[in-house]
Amino acid sequence: MKLALGLFGLFGALSALIGSLQVHRATTIVISGDYLGHVQPCGCTSPQRGGLLRLATLVHRLEATSDVVLLSTGALSGDIKRQDALKLETTAQILGALKVAAVNLTPEDAKLGLGALQSIQNQTGGKLLTSSVQGNGPVTFAQTETTDGLTIGGVSTQPDLLARNVLRQANSVEAATEFLVTSAKESESSPVLLLDGPKERAEAIAKQFPKLALIVYRSASDPETDAETVGSTLLVTPGQEGKFALTITLEDGKLGNYSAVPLDPEFPNDAQASRYFRAYLSEVDREGLLDKAVRQASKAFAGSQSCAKCHAADTKIWQHSKHSVALQSLEKVGEARDPECVKCHVTGLNLNTGFRSIKATPGLANVSCESCHGNAVLHSLQPKKVKLPKVQLKMCTNCHTADQSPKFNPLTYWAKIQHK
Ligand code: HEC
Ligand code: HEC
Ligand code: HEC
Ligand code: HEC
Repeated sequence: MKLALGLFGLFGALSALIGSLQVHRATTIVISGDYLGHVQPCGCTSPQRGGLLRLATLVHRLEATSDVVLLSTGALSGDIKRQDALKLETTAQILGALKVAAVNLTPEDAKLGLGALQSIQNQTGGKLLTSSVQGNGPVTFAQTETTDGLTIGGVSTQPDLLARNVLRQANSVEAATEFLVTSAKESESSPVLLLDGPKERAEAIAKQFPKLALIVYRSASDPETDAETVGSTLLVTPGQEGKFALTITLEDGKLGNYSAVPLDPEFPNDAQASRYFRAYLSEVDREGLLDKAVRQASKAFAGSQSCAKCHAADTKIWQHSKHSVALQSLEKVGEARDPECVKCHVTGLNLNTGFRSIKATPGLANVSCESCHGNAVLHSLQPKKVKLPKVQLKMCTNCHTADQSPKFNPLTYWAKIQHK
């Protein structure tokens, strides 16, 4: 009995200690968003910045020492194709696994339709919110979310666009923000505004509603090194494509220690998020999205094997270049059935005479001869009569874009691949 009591006392003391430690655990607000379909960097060059697989690692690292309130500015998707819906779902799944506290509803995601929005709600436990629409619609959105001494609201500067897509009535920016500030006052917490709108709007709102503790706005530029303040309101943006995550500490109701963390390779991919990403790739394959690529009418291609018999030397040089193994590079990373990748790693995916599969069109797999020289069937038949046009630099930059090939230099790159 005594022993039991003694143990009980010890446990009591221990749990009180743990309890008091928990009380003093700091809170870190993590802000991410505007993924626009960028779940994971493509890997065409290195180092590349961003990705939800790294964001997950950052969040888990912070969780070791503090409570984390993860906020997302939304814009999970960049377009409205089937693959965009799949990416939206994967992004929502990862945010859900990270126990995201709030995701702002933006026109980008609303455009994908109610099914996609319901899927975000299912994956995140209903954390997609907005104060910018009112009334009942097929999908339910909370207007605000209160957690860890914060009340978070989502406001759009394009409420009409939002309302049209979610079948509700629009709330003006002022009414929606007013609602947030009032809700925060009632729950004695600090109001945080996720704003679907630019910096100038954020500044104007901060002046109009000085009680706001934090406004997260949207911007195509990278985040600022130091957070801007208007009165006592902090103004920040995570930038675009999920390249950065912002961290802000919350202690005794005060925000501080703003930092814009670049999601560079020092953050390894989180295992669980990677599983979700691989499941997404399997689904892209299973649904045959590569076979459903949109194609335009085009002249027939000859295929690189047919050039080889007359251009042995050029073919040999090509075979030693990376262009001849571009599809293999995708196979190595498990993305050879992803049309968003394949389009630049083969010849003519967007043309009805272009690449279909290695089996059906072996001469158009990889960046083959006609990727640069154009359709050459007639030339192959009558080489003296039908001349091919000179290769233009524009051909290269169709694929060597700023994102995929940031080190592209016309002089050095050209010198590397010309067959001399
Ligand atoms: C807009 C065209 C384009 C798209 C889309 C594209 N790539 Fe690439 N990829 C390139 C180019 C160009 C290079 C060569 C870059 C360089 O060397 O400057 C490359 C290189 C690569 C490499 C080789 C990197 C190395 O270190 O050797 C891999 C792997 C790769 N891409 C994977 C992908 C994946 C995965 C996707 C889809 C998520 C993708 N690519 C989408 C154009 C593209
Ligand atoms: C990445 C683009 C690219 C690919 C792929 C490519 N070439 Fe070329 N090719 C060039 C460029 C650039 C030149 C130089 C043209 C110039 O300077 O105007 C060239 C020149 C040539 C010439 C002219 C003669 C010479 O040797 O300079 C022939 C023939 C030729 N290529 C055949 C081929 C064949 C056959 C293949 C496939 C096995 C191929 N090329 C693949 C870009 C490419
Ligand atoms: C039957 C042989 C033959 C085939 C097949 C052939 N070529 Fe040629 N190609 C030639 C000859 C010969 C010339 C040189 C023409 C001249 O100098 O008048 C030439 C020239 C070229 C040139 C230089 C520009 C020009 O038109 O003179 C390029 C580029 C080229 N070929 C690319 C290709 C590509 C790409 C293929 C495959 C799709 C291909 N050729 C297939 C025989 C062939
Ligand atoms: C159809 C898309 C496409 C076109 C057109 C294209 N490239 Fe590429 N290029 C790629 C891809 C994809 C890779 C990377 C392949 C890999 O590593 O798997 C690449 C790689 C390269 C490399 C690295 C090659 C090596 O062997 O190290 C050079 C250099 C290059 N491209 C130059 C050019 C130039 C110059 C042109 C225009 C004359 C051009 N490319 C046209 C897609 C393209």
